Amino acid sequence: MRLVVPLQGVAQGRGGLLLGSLIPCALFYFLQLYLKRRRSPSDPSPPSTSSSNQPGMTRHSSLSNLLSRGPLRISSLATSIAKPDDSPYYMGLDRASGDPYHRIANPDGVIQLGLSENRLCFDLIEKWTSENLRDWVMGREVGDLSISGIATYQPSDGTMKLKMAMAGFMSRVIGRDVSYEPSQMVLTAGVTSAIETLCFCLADHGNAFLVPTPYYPSFDRDMKWRTGVELIPVHCRSKDNFVLSISALDQAFNQTRKRETKIRGILLSNPANPVGNLLSRKMLEALLKFAEEKNIHIVSDEIFAGSIYGEKEFVSIAEVVGSEDFDKNRVHIVYGLSKDLFLPGVRVGMIYSFNENVLAAARKLTRFSSVSAPTQRLLVSMLSDTRFIVEYIQTNKKRIRDMRDLFVAGLEELGIKCTDSRSSLYCWADMRNLIPTYGEKGELELWEKLLNVGKINLTPGSACHCIEPGWFRCCFTTLDKDDVRVVMERIRKVVGSRTSCG
Ligand SMILES: *[C@@H]1O[C@H](CO)[C@@H](O)[C@H](O)[C@H]1NC(C)=O
Repeated sequence: MRLVVPLQGVAQGRGGLLLGSLIPCALFYFLQLYLKRRRSPSDPSPPSTSSSNQPGMTRHSSLSNLLSRGPLRISSLATSIAKPDDSPYYMGLDRASGDPYHRIANPDGVIQLGLSENRLCFDLIEKWTSENLRDWVMGREVGDLSISGIATYQPSDGTMKLKMAMAGFMSRVIGRDVSYEPSQMVLTAGVTSAIETLCFCLADHGNAFLVPTPYYPSFDRDMKWRTGVELIPVHCRSKDNFVLSISALDQAFNQTRKRETKIRGILLSNPANPVGNLLSRKMLEALLKFAEEKNIHIVSDEIFAGSIYGEKEFVSIAEVVGSEDFDKNRVHIVYGLSKDLFLPGVRVGMIYSFNENVLAAARKLTRFSSVSAPTQRLLVSMLSDTRFIVEYIQTNKKRIRDMRDLFVAGLEELGIKCTDSRSSLYCWADMRNLIPTYGEKGELELWEKLLNVGKINLTPGSACHCIEPGWFRCCFTTLDKDDVRVVMERIRKVVGSRTSCG
């Protein structure tokens, strides 16, 4: 039986392993032998159309290779990445994108509240593009009227023009007198790539980053997949409004050090995804102090910097590190245009670092993930249109706030409360009293029921490593105002049927 084991990957038949694989192999072998005998020895084998350099290589020999060496291997990393998703975050996204709700075309489809898209100002982008199409293809300036600026090689870490335009956009987004230095920027094809590049630059395989929870589910892919670093959760709790504390950070640091894992940094998301809260200036100072004491880095994901719509102001770590006597070398920011300007398909992200060594390495690494030149030209054109940008930022904030108010009020009518936050594209909903049993299992049961019965996809807190079960992330910026009513009806249907079941 042992001899047959390597064939298991070839033959699917169960029980009939011998019939299903050995017999066809034997028949094939004899057929080859027969054909070989019939062919005269001087008869060359037919010319191969493949580029193989081994004319003698026939299917027969590759089969016998298979018999002796087992199936063709791919890397173990790729093997583990290729496995089907078992995270409810990705399963839910797939379900909703495979059967998307549409008021008229597919009214029974799944409403997507799991994907972090902001479609609320898509009309403004459409309008701008239709009015400026010629400019962005040809370039705005007279000297640009040639294909040479986009068909030839461009610097892989981004053109100076786009970096300057990004610096302007970021200052405008923050809305205060904060300036960004274009020479400290490295542009990448999306923030995913920016985060991975940073991770690669700061940590070796087996090193770790401390990450406050709940955190964005894809950090587990973006940070870990190819670099082999570890993420250590630092749990934030509802009693503290999910605000990070230095003592929790210190505790996680001590515990990780005990098992001899090197910690290389803290990964912050500010404004926070999924909770939507902000780190105060005081907290940022404390974090910088902590990082200095432990001699580690701080990576701050500020992708929602412009999606703020309350009284509280957003403070970038760039401002704090600039105003005080902190060591800037350990501070790195990622930013992009997928949220604050709804262009996730355009794939533009950025590393903003104060560390020359990190910048030098990251610039070289962008050869794997550079932004295409036509894309850069489009963005220079769009970001330099100050009137459009100012209007976009203001309208966007107002529309997110209105949608949030509507959505949160709808949930409140159902007895579901959200944490008090006025940033990012989500609300963080407390459904602890709606889960059938207190624990991750109960949370996933509710999530599944909302998906399959209610036909709405939310992100369960466990997918974000939240330590308390029963919290859900709802992205409301994918909706039309009319959809909010449908969402609430669907939640009511699920919650109602649960109570009637006991
Ligand atoms: C972590 O370790 C340091 C140094 O040993 C100690 O001073 C500190 O109190 C510890 N922190 C926690 C939260 O256990």
